[in-house]
Amino acid sequence: MNSYPIDSIRDDFPILKSKINNHNLIYFDNAATTQKPRVVIDSLTNFYQNNNANIHRGIHTLAEKATEEFEMTRSVVKNFINASSEKEIIFTKGTTEGINLIASSLSKSFFNEGDEIIISEMEHHSNIVPWQMVAKEKKLKLKTINVSDNGELDLDHFESIINEKTKLVSVVYISNTLGTINPVKKIIDICRENNILNLIDGAQASAHNEIDVKDLGADFFVFSAHKMYGPTGVGIVYGRENILEKMPPYMGGGEMIKDVSFTETTYNDLPYKFEAGTPNIGDVVGFKEAIHYIEKIGKKKIRDYEENLMKYTNSCLSDIDGINIFGTSKKKIGIFSFTCENSHFYDLGLLLDAKGIAVRTGHHCTQPLMSKFNLDGTARLSLALYNTKEEVDFFIESIKKIIKR
Ligand SMILES: Cc1ncc(COP(=O)(O)O)c(C=O)c1O
Repeated sequence: MNSYPIDSIRDDFPILKSKINNHNLIYFDNAATTQKPRVVIDSLTNFYQNNNANIHRGIHTLAEKATEEFEMTRSVVKNFINASSEKEIIFTKGTTEGINLIASSLSKSFFNEGDEIIISEMEHHSNIVPWQMVAKEKKLKLKTINVSDNGELDLDHFESIINEKTKLVSVVYISNTLGTINPVKKIIDICRENNILNLIDGAQASAHNEIDVKDLGADFFVFSAHKMYGPTGVGIVYGRENILEKMPPYMGGGEMIKDVSFTETTYNDLPYKFEAGTPNIGDVVGFKEAIHYIEKIGKKKIRDYEENLMKYTNSCLSDIDGINIFGTSKKKIGIFSFTCENSHFYDLGLLLDAKGIAVRTGHHCTQPLMSKFNLDGTARLSLALYNTKEEVDFFIESIKKIIKR
């Protein structure tokens, strides 16, 4: 961990200097949303102070500046995930909207009655409900891949539920509840062999893992800026160009058209066909600073640092009598969902908050997974690039005191 500039990284995040209930803030709710570095915060102020105008429509200087800044993010995202073209990068307001966009567009053009969609038991609600809605409307069947007791996808089961009616597989890259890193490349390979479209929910992966959509062979890949140190209200749909070309628009309105008359409308080219209305310009502009920030530190360095911290947290937490951790795969990131034998998870959350420690409590938008493990919910600690061993130590000490009490 020595060459990792943790002190200067922590200085980059103003909020980490906060006091919560007279304690230094220890922010362990990073899977819900990450904190923002000063470069991202400053870029938002800079945009509204110096460059604010609507995009794509004006010929005046400010409109051109705003458009340039906005489109620059598209190009930065394209390089970040190794897409082939900016046409494959669509801005949304988050992962949830991204999956809804794909589900809604495919439902109009792609699915026929009786077709089947496969998701998994560990999906976030945003990768369950949109498919349920499409399944209901188009009379499709929704199947789920089993999750093993240690929180891994059962790939044999996956292959056993594929048949000639399977049209789409949509799975999470990294589980927000279990922390498991799923073998998505293998899943995609199986999809390709069987001529099935694939969608990867990368919400928890983009801040931690290298993303290379070409190497993965992904048809669709979705993620949110706010889970990778960027602003809220911005998300990305990556879609393979030849697939997006065939898909009808998601929403109608300004920007997504070429020509409109009362008898007929022709649609804009990619990616604008999927971007109706004024987008979240300022936050999209700020998003590229988050990507630059991650790239400046280096994904590999971040991953190595977080992996060490994850292993350290795992050994400390699993040593405590009365703590049960859900999600014990060897391939995981620093997400720990746990229960404590003598404390309800809400009480745990409140008692930790009294010490300045922010953890998540509840079902983490994965109710079917909770039911599988016979749980109402858990407490969840999730790590990010600015967390430290000292923070983990204070957390462990606090948990031990809570248990003793
Ligand atoms: C795995 C996963 N998928 C989807 C989402 C939804 O992301 P958003 O709320 O940014 O749309 C989340 C958010 O927690 C998530 O963790």
